[in-house]
Amino acid sequence: PLPPATPQYRPSYHFSPAKMWMNDPNGMVYYKGTYHLFFQHYPEAMVWGPMHWGHATSKDLVHWQEQPIALFPDKLGWIFSGSAVIDENNTAGFGKNAMVAIFTHHNDPEEKKKTNKHQYQSLAYSLDEGQTWTKYAGNPVLPNPGIQDFRDPKVSWNTVAKKWIMTLATKDRITFYSSPNLKNWTKESEFGEKLGAHGGVWECPDLFPLTLDGKQQWVLLVSINPGGPNGGSATQYFIGQFDGKKFTPASTQTRWVDYGKDNYAGVTYAGTGPRRIFQGWMSNWEYANQVPTSPWRNAMTVPRELALRKVGQEVFLTSQPVKEVAQLMQPGGVTLQNLTVSKELDLSGKLSGLGDKFQLKLSTRQLTDFALVLANTKGEELVIGYDKKANEYYVDRSKAGLAGFSSTFAGRHPGPRRATTPAADLTLLVDASSVEVFADNGLTALTELFFPTQTLSSIKIKSEAGLVISELSYIRLAPDAK
Ligand code: FRU
Repeated sequence: PLPPATPQYRPSYHFSPAKMWMNDPNGMVYYKGTYHLFFQHYPEAMVWGPMHWGHATSKDLVHWQEQPIALFPDKLGWIFSGSAVIDENNTAGFGKNAMVAIFTHHNDPEEKKKTNKHQYQSLAYSLDEGQTWTKYAGNPVLPNPGIQDFRDPKVSWNTVAKKWIMTLATKDRITFYSSPNLKNWTKESEFGEKLGAHGGVWECPDLFPLTLDGKQQWVLLVSINPGGPNGGSATQYFIGQFDGKKFTPASTQTRWVDYGKDNYAGVTYAGTGPRRIFQGWMSNWEYANQVPTSPWRNAMTVPRELALRKVGQEVFLTSQPVKEVAQLMQPGGVTLQNLTVSKELDLSGKLSGLGDKFQLKLSTRQLTDFALVLANTKGEELVIGYDKKANEYYVDRSKAGLAGFSSTFAGRHPGPRRATTPAADLTLLVDASSVEVFADNGLTALTELFFPTQTLSSIKIKSEAGLVISELSYIRLAPDAK
């Protein structure tokens, strides 16, 4: 039997499955006006198990409909993470515009012990926009050469190579393969054995171009577990060049897409043109199997638009909530200007109710130490702030509600400030049991779960240094029509 239901923790504009277990987003593709989000799913239990691909669709990235399960385990194994493409030119011969899923088959642990060849890449295709799927009879298309972790293929068409490029996580590095037809794969190069963070195995990569000052750059995302900046799972990125065969990074520093504990295995949608839309799994392997929700476990992050921005001589990846979030805004928003915090400012009366699904934005011309304290009458509080000395933003969920399900859940989790201007801005998205913080127009992101035992009702801003807020705005978000 499942634990008692927890509708109070169910997000409304973030996707979560109606029931049971979910991890990584898979096969994300935009096709004929619909965003397809597939996901690692175990429909029999609220814990990780034999993996399927669940399926959800959306017209606007903020309203989601769960669809029938797309891919079931078969005799070659469980269906691990992977990607999907629209095969416009029918290179694979499955049909023009076939939706083709390229995923990892993971087979039994017995063979694993013997050969390390238990993960290999396979194909399935759909000719009806993802509703029904056929596994390719020639699976696997990329057998395992004997590497223990050999998974999570992310495939895209490369216009320079004029081939499909597969970005694959291969234990402690990325291996790039190419193919004219999705079926025959040739190894091109490896990246990262001696670069980046290596506190855990490399997983769920993505490779895509973004333009900065009219020049194309390539971004390589690599999730690692464990070894994240605040413990457990997290996603690092590299910026550089990809010549159709090989990735060359411009900087050797380790950087993270998100410094919060709950954004993992995120990759981007295929088929969105110049828009680069990212979505991650809003959890952490440290406690994903224990979070106190029922009858489902885990949700996805809000979809985010990625871009590159220069700060001094350095280039960073920025992420901001997609503009479609505006569709969720309800009447009755509040905007306040020129607020001076002398030690403490209580805004509870002005933002009456606060609630559990909202967007809060604030901006200042002169950033200094502050703490934004969202609390309930039980004394539970979620704190989001900036520490000037350390020059970092943080989310502190030490006292934000339920935490006993894991020894590593409670805590204060910082992320470096990248912007160098005195002016700063912060956007918060709260949805029942998560907060996503975007600072300085997305230069620093922090995503964190929290499980208050009562709805947040008060908001205070504390600042010994006397923060002056030029503007603060609050608006309720809900998926229903205005
Ligand atoms: C990442 C991951 C992937 C794998 C999948 C299995 O969270 O470990 O590497 O394909 O989850 O569910």
